[in-house]
Amino acid sequence: MTSASLSGRRIWLTGASSGIGRAVAQELVRRGSLVAASGRNVTALQDLSAKCGPDRLIPVPFDATDRSATTAAARTVQARLGGVDIAFFNAGTCEYVDPRRFDSRLFERVVQTNFMSMVYGIEAVLPLLRESRTPYLVGMSSTVAYGCLPRAEAYGATKAAIKYMLESLRLDLAAEQIPVSVVCPGFVRTPLTDLNDFPMPFRIEVDEAARRIADGMARQDPEIHFPKRFSIPFKLLAMLPAGLYNRVAARLVRAS
Ligand SMILES: NC(=O)c1ccc[n+]([C@@H]2O[C@H](COP(=O)([O-])OP(=O)(O)OC[C@H]3O[C@@H](n4cnc5c(N)ncnc54)[C@H](OP(=O)(O)O)[C@@H]3O)[C@@H](O)[C@H]2O)c1
Repeated sequence: MTSASLSGRRIWLTGASSGIGRAVAQELVRRGSLVAASGRNVTALQDLSAKCGPDRLIPVPFDATDRSATTAAARTVQARLGGVDIAFFNAGTCEYVDPRRFDSRLFERVVQTNFMSMVYGIEAVLPLLRESRTPYLVGMSSTVAYGCLPRAEAYGATKAAIKYMLESLRLDLAAEQIPVSVVCPGFVRTPLTDLNDFPMPFRIEVDEAARRIADGMARQDPEIHFPKRFSIPFKLLAMLPAGLYNRVAARLVRAS
């Protein structure tokens, strides 16, 4: 598949109202895709639509933690785009755990927003992808899925679960010729990481992340990971014996 092949594709993208998703939406429109852009923030989606062109980017707001709202949104996307060739589930949040106040409700929020939203989305979109001649499924994980980091007990667990689910699904959907990509960015400058209180090695700008993701989607890379100067050493680090890994990881993202 070449870069040109994103042109004319009908793409449903969640988490498009901010950060990486917003930049990816703009990049996909630049490459000729027709995008249904989702998030809860209606104003942000309308602004984006005005910027990209209302005929190229259609806002489909909904709450991704709500299963029936997700089913309804998929129907709207199908009606507005006339079908779905690519679904990219990117919506997500991050909350760090304070082990002194270990709170199951924090886990419920993060699991619901990151993991279950993607499960609901896949459930709703698979029948639509099966009607496409060029179906393709993409989901947002993170390099944190490669190895554990301090305070990421909830966020990291959801991203590892997403990676496992998508890789498993890739095996099962191969028979139907539905490729599946998992996206694993390192640190990207967005409203989400602006809240972080620790050093973020090799953090990149959101436009660079969007280009990397669109390039990976055009090639249908099974795993889209970047920046390589961070993601590859992190993968290698995660292969170290646990004792050694723990000593390095504990220093990697230390609260300032
Ligand atoms: N930034 C990084 O360094 C980084 C690294 C690795 C992975 N990621 C992942 O990349 C994705 C985007 O992150 P970001 O950094 O771009 O963060 P962001 O700027 O905060 O964007 C998060 C997006 O998710 C949407 N969202 C959150 N909860 C939602 C809900 N309940 N229903 C519908 N949409 C919801 C938000 O839309 P509304 O607020 O409008 O609902 C927003 O569009 C996340 O999955 C994140 O885990 C980010």
